[in-house]
Amino acid sequence: MSQNYYKIVTAKAPVNIALIKYWGKSNEKLKTPINDSISGTLDIDEMCATTSVAISSNYDSDEFWLNGEKQNLSNGSSARLLIEEIKKLSNYDKKILDYKIHISSFNNFPTAAGLASSAAGYACLAYVVGHAYGVVDSCELSKLARIGSGSACRSLFGGFVQWVKGQDHDSSKAIQIVDHDYWPEMRVVICVINEKQKDVSSSAGMSRSVKTSELIRYRADTVVPARIEEMKSAIIDKNFDKFANLTMQDSNQFHAICLDSFPPIFYLNETSRQIIKICSVINSHYAHNKVAYTYDAGPNACIYLLEEFVPKFLYLMQTFFRKSGGDGQSSELEIKGKKYSSAIDQDEMDLLCAKLRSHGLDCQLDTVTYLISTSIGSGPVISNEHIKDKNLQA
Ligand code: PMV
Repeated sequence: MSQNYYKIVTAKAPVNIALIKYWGKSNEKLKTPINDSISGTLDIDEMCATTSVAISSNYDSDEFWLNGEKQNLSNGSSARLLIEEIKKLSNYDKKILDYKIHISSFNNFPTAAGLASSAAGYACLAYVVGHAYGVVDSCELSKLARIGSGSACRSLFGGFVQWVKGQDHDSSKAIQIVDHDYWPEMRVVICVINEKQKDVSSSAGMSRSVKTSELIRYRADTVVPARIEEMKSAIIDKNFDKFANLTMQDSNQFHAICLDSFPPIFYLNETSRQIIKICSVINSHYAHNKVAYTYDAGPNACIYLLEEFVPKFLYLMQTFFRKSGGDGQSSELEIKGKKYSSAIDQDEMDLLCAKLRSHGLDCQLDTVTYLISTSIGSGPVISNEHIKDKNLQA
């Protein structure tokens, strides 16, 4: 480490994808939700935020860059509040706490396209700034990560995680249900449909829903409490059929609440709906659930499935969504992340493709951009590889 730095720390933090969705705050300031939620934390090998924070007496001001673009660190901004709250918990000397910090953060996946980039980003910021100032209790850091993005509190833990709504800053907290090794066959495929930023942010969307939707109260008071218990037991019993039903129903209800908001909010597009149809036909073909779709505040599909079905699902996606080639030939979708070499039964796939076509599903060109094949992961980590960014030089 250069002597110009008091300290430089780097961390990686994961994305989490909710199975039972958080949608609506009971207190905008405390970022407490109107209902509990449950998510799976994804493996940082495929999708993560990486953040380096440097503390130096040579810096003149605090600065923050995300994907190379300077961010707002003015008083009252979420990142500023988060840093100040962490400093309050630090027992470092005042002299050190007065040194300025430079932060540089990168996501290795599309930002603000409904792929939980803010959850990974703020979880990473809380974790890395916490470690830079000697505040390392993940429960505390998880509560503080909420300042930036509510769902970020779940990304501080691996495996399957519940965010208990609570009533105030301390009682509203994320807790691990099981760790990433508990259900080792669980896999996730993300279908990236649109890398563009969404037009209604999740916080604007949920605030509109709380103000205008009549269904949201019924969801929060009646539906979710029962679903949370059901989902916890589905995970503990490794009951994929039940897990998948709950996941798909909860995604549907969240998007129904969006439609019930006024003016309505549309996060899904035609391709999202086609993938829902493909999943429904697959599940009815086998007479039990093989895949569970879920969608956050954007059109990209997140598919939870067990390892044995991944090669088949990828084959189907590559059959029904292809890329156009310059010479009139189409080509396969790119699959990023974990690769599977196991052979698939061609007769079984031919039968399923015929079934899908009989439901009016045809091959679409250029509507899905690429796929990310990943799994459940273990949460944030400290890394020795600092981001090489001239802005961090002291
Ligand atoms: O944490 P936010 O404010 O980005 O909201 C996340 C909302 C959903 O992704 C749609 C649901 C969830 O529980 O993650």
